[in-house]
Amino acid sequence: MHIRRQPGAALDAPLVLDGRNLELLYLRIDGRELDQSAYALDKKQLTIEGLPEAADLEIGTRIRPVQNTALEGLYLSGDMLCTQCEAHGFSRITYFLDRPDVMTRYRVKLTADRTRYPILLANGNPVDSGSSDNGYHWVTWEDPFPKPCYLFALVAGDLAMIEDEFTTCSGRKVALRIYVEPENKDKCDHAMASVKQAMRWDEEAYGREYDLDIFMIVAVGSFNMGAMENKGLNIFNAKYIIADPKTATDDDHEAVRDIIGHEYFHNWTGNRITCRDWFQLSVKESLTVFREQQFSAAMGSEAIRRIRQARLIRTQQFPEDAGPTAHPVRPDSYMEVNNLYTLTVYEKGSEVIRMLHTLLGAEKFRKAMDQYFERHDGQAVTVEEFLAVMEQAGERDLSQFRLWYSQAGTPVVNAEWEYQPGERRHVLHLKQSTPPTPGQAIKQPLHIPIRAALLNASGASEENILELCQAEQQFVFQDTNPNTGISLLRGFSAPVQLVMAHTDEQLRQLITQSGDGYASWDAMQKLYFGTLLDRIRAIQQKKTSTKPSVLSQAIERLLENPGENPALLAELLLMPSESVIADQMQQVDLDSIIVARDGLRSELSRHLYPLILQAYEKSAGSSPYRFDNESVARRRLNNVCLGWLVAGGGPEARELAMHHYQQADNMTDSLGALVALNDSDGPERTKALHEFQQRWQTQPLVLDKWYTLQATSRLPSSLDSVRQLMSSSNFDGRNPNRIRALLGAFAHANTRGFHRADGTGYQFVADNIQALNALNPQVA
Ligand code: TRP
Ligand code: ZN
Repeated sequence: MHIRRQPGAALDAPLVLDGRNLELLYLRIDGRELDQSAYALDKKQLTIEGLPEAADLEIGTRIRPVQNTALEGLYLSGDMLCTQCEAHGFSRITYFLDRPDVMTRYRVKLTADRTRYPILLANGNPVDSGSSDNGYHWVTWEDPFPKPCYLFALVAGDLAMIEDEFTTCSGRKVALRIYVEPENKDKCDHAMASVKQAMRWDEEAYGREYDLDIFMIVAVGSFNMGAMENKGLNIFNAKYIIADPKTATDDDHEAVRDIIGHEYFHNWTGNRITCRDWFQLSVKESLTVFREQQFSAAMGSEAIRRIRQARLIRTQQFPEDAGPTAHPVRPDSYMEVNNLYTLTVYEKGSEVIRMLHTLLGAEKFRKAMDQYFERHDGQAVTVEEFLAVMEQAGERDLSQFRLWYSQAGTPVVNAEWEYQPGERRHVLHLKQSTPPTPGQAIKQPLHIPIRAALLNASGASEENILELCQAEQQFVFQDTNPNTGISLLRGFSAPVQLVMAHTDEQLRQLITQSGDGYASWDAMQKLYFGTLLDRIRAIQQKKTSTKPSVLSQAIERLLENPGENPALLAELLLMPSESVIADQMQQVDLDSIIVARDGLRSELSRHLYPLILQAYEKSAGSSPYRFDNESVARRRLNNVCLGWLVAGGGPEARELAMHHYQQADNMTDSLGALVALNDSDGPERTKALHEFQQRWQTQPLVLDKWYTLQATSRLPSSLDSVRQLMSSSNFDGRNPNRIRALLGAFAHANTRGFHRADGTGYQFVADNIQALNALNPQVA
């Protein structure tokens, strides 16, 4: 590398480079081998004294990718060599200033055995290649854009490639290439189509054009996370590239599209403009998740995307924010950078950007983004610099809003809706408070945008944005009548927990007439909670349980008037999981939750069987599989109905599910049947699982689904099955996808098995995490 002392730096300051698990072979300065006395080496750093003002530094290191089980730095996935450098993988490859604000231009020459590694890739553009007579060949790549080392990547292997082309808005042609292991070559069309959609969308929505002549993606089987945005050479977990109707579900197809979008959008929000240090991770991740969500909404149904995002926040991020590891979107300490890749930074952070978008409005937000790109291109920036642009171009004072970045915890907003007959008006009383989190006892009021609409017999009014800034605040609505209702937090306009009392009648109106997918779904959830908590109390007091009638009628009404979006209906029909119900209780009584939920579900199933069956039959598909919004929505409803039917416990429903499984021409329907059968012990489940395993045993990504089914079954035997599967000799305990499919699914999604009263669920997971930690700390 060519190095130069920073102007102003002390002349006798040594150069301190980061490096781990490296074997130093040689160290040369301006061509001269450096004497051992001129540098110091320890486990983490190489310190070089007495460097001139500017110098050429040559460092030779030896690394052993075969022994790299942490999957950081250069490692082996199958027969392929690949890298993962974010956050500190580069210093496992060579000695370097491993921090994001050191931006460098890279020229990379790869030399390798031609038969084992015919494909040699790195960032940027290929500029030279050749072969030696000893069976080796070489390729040189040059990336014209200065970048931090966490965006460095290289790949070597015997890979198949599919190729396409994209013409940018300015008319430049960009070669698009996806590299995969040869057996997956026929499963990349969806990924390629998604790349093109993402490129076009970023041009249209943000005016961002791609900046190299070639854009490459490599899919690898062993990968710690979802994917990585390395400049010009994205590296993906194969799970988020490989997709065809037979082996991937609709949800898989959507995830592939969204993650391809995410990594592609990083090219501007992350790569061209990166973060100054890892505390500023939000500067690239929150913003890129938000852009990904906008893309996803533009490609699919906005309402459904929003319900799912809200569900993720409410079921996973809220608990994180209420637990021992609660931290702000911009954290102020860490023991290990890998621990910063959290739902709070990614998902809550994205909600924070969304609130900015709401407060500024689409137009000013876009103007601010244009200015952000213009002002900071090529820089490593802070959250503060991002906010300064939002503030100036958005013409808004964001001093209170900034607290969203520094204050942890989920705000609770209490709402009361009061009619004042003398004045013929309603007053909305709002109160906010944020519970203390570790290290932050006292909380300040936040700046919270709350989307609101009035509800009358004819439906919802125009939306307003209420800005809640004080601990307590009132909003007056003139000329209302006693029956006027209000719908708040529409579109989940802020990541808060809204507490508001509703009558059953008000909930019913919200479900059918709110005109907002999220608001309807939220009201339906409340109806479920009300009924379930009633039952749980009855069980605890050993009384017989009360009427499911309000809920039952609501479902009946939904099934009779399904509306025009079957996917929305499917979301409304989904019953809250045990863990979501637990979140509603001060003291969690899992046994009662289970009895209440199972009881209610099977009663409703039996009571509404004919109606559900009708909805099931109406949503059955006849034409061959297609991945488009309409078919996805139809299949979704169809499979949710099947689940409801089987929950009643009758043999005819299990037969129906078996038939559904055997008729399926796509993975969405196969898996829909398996999920429906997964909680009932019987020959159907055993048979279907066995067939599935036989059919897919050579395809690891599909087999992962088979593992997950067993890990998430509500049957009491699930822990024993998981234990057996883990200790079996076919279990690849080093592959992160496989570990997540079994152990991860058990810990995260098997409430009953994991929280077994005898503690064996915890013991099992803890033991396995401890063992895994020795191999792969990030996945552990
Ligand atoms: N930057 C990646 C993303 O969000 C995340 C990521 C991929 C990552 N691999 C990693 C983060 C390894 C830490 C370590 O798109
Ligand atoms: Zn990202």
